[in-house]
Amino acid sequence: MNNMTFPNYVAARTLALLDQKKARLDPMQTSFYVWQRPDRIVVVFDPTTIDIGKVNADFAHRLSTQLQGRRVVRTNSRGLFLQVGYEIPPALVELTSMPLDLSKQPTPYHIPIGATAAGRDLWVSILEGDSFLVAGSRSMGKTGCLHSMIQALQHGGQVEVYAFDGKDGVEFARYIGQPKFHYVTSLKQTLDELKAIANERRKALLASGQPNILKYNETHPDEPLLPIVLIVDEAALTSDDEKAGLVEIVERERATGFYPILATNRPEQSALLVKSNLVTRICFPVPSFHASQMVLGQNGAESLPKVQGRGLIVFKARVMEFQTFRVTYPPTSEDTVRMVLSYHEQAIEQVPTVADEITQLAESIREKWDPTMSKRAVGRMIGQTYAGAWARKIDQILDYLAATTATATTAFDQNSPQKGFFEAVAE
Ligand SMILES: Nc1ncnc2c1ncn2[C@@H]1O[C@H](COP(=O)(O)OP(=O)(O)O)[C@@H](O)[C@H]1O
Ligand SMILES: [Mg+2]
Repeated sequence: MNNMTFPNYVAARTLALLDQKKARLDPMQTSFYVWQRPDRIVVVFDPTTIDIGKVNADFAHRLSTQLQGRRVVRTNSRGLFLQVGYEIPPALVELTSMPLDLSKQPTPYHIPIGATAAGRDLWVSILEGDSFLVAGSRSMGKTGCLHSMIQALQHGGQVEVYAFDGKDGVEFARYIGQPKFHYVTSLKQTLDELKAIANERRKALLASGQPNILKYNETHPDEPLLPIVLIVDEAALTSDDEKAGLVEIVERERATGFYPILATNRPEQSALLVKSNLVTRICFPVPSFHASQMVLGQNGAESLPKVQGRGLIVFKARVMEFQTFRVTYPPTSEDTVRMVLSYHEQAIEQVPTVADEITQLAESIREKWDPTMSKRAVGRMIGQTYAGAWARKIDQILDYLAATTATATTAFDQNSPQKGFFEAVAE
């Protein structure tokens, strides 16, 4: 900063960033004003001389980084403003990924979200969060986030967890054998079981005169009805039947103690689920503001830095940026692997469904497929054109292939700041 005053420094950095992003429409005109307030500096942009779309969350993020991590908040109620704090926040200069520390779990019902820009750990109680949608582009950290949730609920030990990974056990089978953990092999079957449990619970509630399990547990401390968290990863790959079953749980089973957490990288294809009343929304980077709108009900996730584990959460009408905690993935035992595989061999012999058709087509080209192939090329491989109903099926095939292909695990290494791959995605 040398001889510059802080407001001048903010102005210089803002101008440099505008030029870097080629956001000034007319370099001869004033693009913004810097207004010094007692508690903060406000940068007021002139929307007639700049491309305001380029002064996005990423812009604010970069400016914040250049200002040693001072808070930069975008507001665009009437015109576009950036509010810049004077203080350098104590802890995180940039959002870095911290290891998950289960000893910080506030109650057995809290699930970890991540570290926030204010340097605080964000945990949300399932009782308050109620029902969760987790969305974001492929390999941006959804499943990792679900792992951290499972591990926390396991640590708390007061919640029954049912988990479906949509990947034949690759993700969640490793928790088989842990108390109160139910690995889901057939989502359809589990949904039927859960429906039966819900009906039993409804009877118990009616008989006791209590409106929900929480009240019920106050009067029945010896035989509490534990909250049931149902985690469904790859929710877009489930059948229409299963989606309908999930919606029913989201919409009907609050009182009986069900807390769904649904994850998808295709919010558009799970519109049914997205439109149901999932209260808490978590979104990792997505390609378009349409996707962000769909998931969060507002823009923002499209301009998150394309860093794995970076996300926005909308919870109780507040939106917060976070970086997920790093988790370690416990190894799956050999017995479990054998058990899960034999289940799937049996399942394949059963009646083929639409999902099986996708699976079979996908498996038939797996050897020849690689992730850089275009959708058209994939269409040609299975002898179809990428159009109409086949376009949808080919999308599903690609999702399946991507979801069941192992991803590199090095991206979370803090010492390799993920430049190559994620920056490439960003551009
Ligand atoms: N919280 C995390 N802790 C540790 N590694 C993670 C975490 N989140 C993601 N990863 C790593 O990144 C890879 C891709 O992330 P993942 O969560 O599987 O993406 P997706 O959004 O497609 O579910 C994972 O295989 C894992 O190696
Ligand atoms: Mg995933």
